[in-house]
Amino acid sequence: MLDLKRQYAPIHQELLDALGRVLETQQFILGGEVAAFEKAAAEQLGASHALGCSSGTDALWLALAAAGIESGQAVVTTPFSFFASASSILRAGATPVLADIDPVSFNLSAAAVSAVLDGPRGAAVRAILPVHLYGQTIEWPSFSRLARERGLTIVEDAAQAWGAEWNGVKAGGLGNIAAFSFYPTKNLSAAGDAGMVTTNSAELAERVKMLRQQGMRRRYYHDELGWNARMDGFQGAVLAVKLKYICAWNEARRALAARYHALFAQAGLAEAGNYPVHGPVHGVVLPRELPGAHHVWHQYVIRAPRRDALREFLTARAIGSEIYYPLPLHQQEALKSLGYAAGDFPEAERAAREVLALPIYPELREDEQQTVVAAIAEFLS
Ligand SMILES: Cc1ncc(COP(=O)(O)O)c(C=O)c1O
Repeated sequence: MLDLKRQYAPIHQELLDALGRVLETQQFILGGEVAAFEKAAAEQLGASHALGCSSGTDALWLALAAAGIESGQAVVTTPFSFFASASSILRAGATPVLADIDPVSFNLSAAAVSAVLDGPRGAAVRAILPVHLYGQTIEWPSFSRLARERGLTIVEDAAQAWGAEWNGVKAGGLGNIAAFSFYPTKNLSAAGDAGMVTTNSAELAERVKMLRQQGMRRRYYHDELGWNARMDGFQGAVLAVKLKYICAWNEARRALAARYHALFAQAGLAEAGNYPVHGPVHGVVLPRELPGAHHVWHQYVIRAPRRDALREFLTARAIGSEIYYPLPLHQQEALKSLGYAAGDFPEAERAAREVLALPIYPELREDEQQTVVAAIAEFLS
């Protein structure tokens, strides 16, 4: 599914030198390497402020807490995401309110959010936390309009979307504040856990800085209940090196996605027409890049008939695949108290049954992609 050693090989000396600098300076928490990474990251994203922190999960919590989300309030998010998109809202003391996804992009549907805001759970909602799933931003104009009309804050979960854009504006600079993850499988990845908060607001940035350091503005004087959520020096050093390559790596992912599209089409396996597909499916439904979006293909996710049997078939041939995500958030045991039931979000539930992520990373070879597509063709024949 992912061979990180192929990324490491050509840059290993640069990474070792960067790690050596941290050891030389002994600045293990935040420090110069993290500050340099933050500055370069903000420049690349076109955001005014970028603040390194300990993980994507902590970045989400920091973003929500900095935006003043608290107990008694609610935040709308998607049921089809990684657990942290919802758990961070609970950790901030607020209540996640869910709305269904758009079946083409797999992202939160603005129309569904709008309906939820008009419903019984809508009154307490102060913010929307959309996720740029699989590396494609949400359909931004609809969300921007919704936020403006309803006076809501937008907290982007950009964990999977470093470099993704909507009409030339990068994820991380679309909403009021955003959270990134540098978990090792992400497009831009650390050598451990790390994350980042970005914002164009000086006030929010100042609050994130305070909250990631135990709520301190002045050493040992705690203004608010913050947390230890700082980025460590080794991660900043590694990320600063990789930041130089991420644009080229994302371009490579785009070329790989285009090649998957072509290979599936050549094999006659690309389901025609717009989703939702009605009737029997003979091929697979390919992922789409929305007009306006610049997709960075963190994942290449197809919808497949008999998905679980297909996955077993691929596994038996040593072909990696993954299901992001097999169980929507409203059906998770840990989130039972939210009071949702199976059937509440049909598109999220259908996606959970049908999606299959295929190998995609910058160093993946053409012959490997051909092998993947040939195996799927064999399964479907
Ligand atoms: C959509 C999404 N949100 C949040 C996170 C949390 O990030 P982390 O694992 O760095 O805490 C992840 C990644 O794992 C993610 O994919």
